[in-house]
Amino acid sequence: MSTELKENYRSWQNSSWNWYAELQFRRYTIPSYDAQEAFLKGYFSDAAGRCLEENGRPLRVLEFGCGFGRHLKYLHQMDGVEVYGCDQSPGMLSVARTLLLGRFPELEERIELVEPDQRLPYEDDAFDIVFTVSVLIHVSPEDVAGRVKELRRVARSRILNVELPPFTHSYLWDDAHGGCWLHDFPRLHRQAGPCIVEVDGDSLAPNAVIYDVACDGGRDGLRVLQGGKWAESPEQVQEARLNILLEYSKLCRGRAQQNFAREAETSRELRDEIRELKRRMRTLRVDNRSLNERVKKREQTIRRLRATRALKFSYWLANHPLLRPVAKTAFDALVGIRRFLPRALGLERRDGGDPRDSDHKAPDDE
Ligand SMILES: C[S@@+](CC[C@H](N)C(=O)[O-])C[C@H]1O[C@@H](n2cnc3c(N)ncnc32)[C@H](O)[C@@H]1O
Repeated sequence: MSTELKENYRSWQNSSWNWYAELQFRRYTIPSYDAQEAFLKGYFSDAAGRCLEENGRPLRVLEFGCGFGRHLKYLHQMDGVEVYGCDQSPGMLSVARTLLLGRFPELEERIELVEPDQRLPYEDDAFDIVFTVSVLIHVSPEDVAGRVKELRRVARSRILNVELPPFTHSYLWDDAHGGCWLHDFPRLHRQAGPCIVEVDGDSLAPNAVIYDVACDGGRDGLRVLQGGKWAESPEQVQEARLNILLEYSKLCRGRAQQNFAREAETSRELRDEIRELKRRMRTLRVDNRSLNERVKKREQTIRRLRATRALKFSYWLANHPLLRPVAKTAFDALVGIRRFLPRALGLERRDGGDPRDSDHKAPDDE
């Protein structure tokens, strides 16, 4: 096995009861699950009858990618069918074991955990029919040819795939479950060995196609069901196959339109959210501005109050009955100093002076 497990396999390995619950829910809304089961019951009932007639023994069937055992349960209860299941997900198999082994302990031996990209633990031609339902869609493009070859190795007479419509090459259709791919199943089967591939795009829902591969046919051919009739000539096959691709393209377009609609809706929601956020930011800015103004006014008031308090204090100081004589003496002393100091220092001005000074005389008076 490759060293690093790919996300598409890991995703299923981590699935268990969550997928079981999801599928129970889907059954109510998507009819294709019941349609698949009804088709498979009819198909295996016919095949089991033929096998008993021709070989006198039950039909040995392997479901590759059996998940939680949705198909194992009813196939095991059908007359003339000996069913086996394998899957690469321990989580899905543990659900299958819980659901099935209590009632059908004999299935214990028949349910196997396998590696997603290694040789299957079965002999060549071990089963009459090997089938898959919605499994190869989850196999990466680089592994799908190897898986188809392995199915071919262990299938004695037929391979039945209930998968998506074929496409001209493997390509990623959806990134759910770590990746869902379309593959060119008829080509992959014909590469694995001579066979007749019958492609039935009519019997199930438009997004499900049945590939019924006759491995022991010995011929390399392709038959395509269209409008309930098998296409006979190569041209009819071509036309029918194109029709399946057309159906598939419509399906893709539908999905794309749904996605666009969803994206448009998300983008509308985001636009509204952005608008709302911007509005709130604007309000916040307005609030900030008015808050700043209020703060400024408060600060001014505080400054004014402080100034008034200082003024009041100096007034109180100057008029205090004890301090007033001291203040008056100091004031007088200052006035005295002011009057006599310039004269004592010889700095007295002769051309003028303080008229309040009693010693002062105009020069003409002398
Ligand atoms: C959508 S579920 C289908 C289960 C079941 N066939 C059904 O119809 O209910 C896909 C299953 O395929 C399994 N699977 C995917 N790739 C596989 C691989 N390479 N080898 C074995 N099982 C694989 C997954 O583990 C998962 O259980």
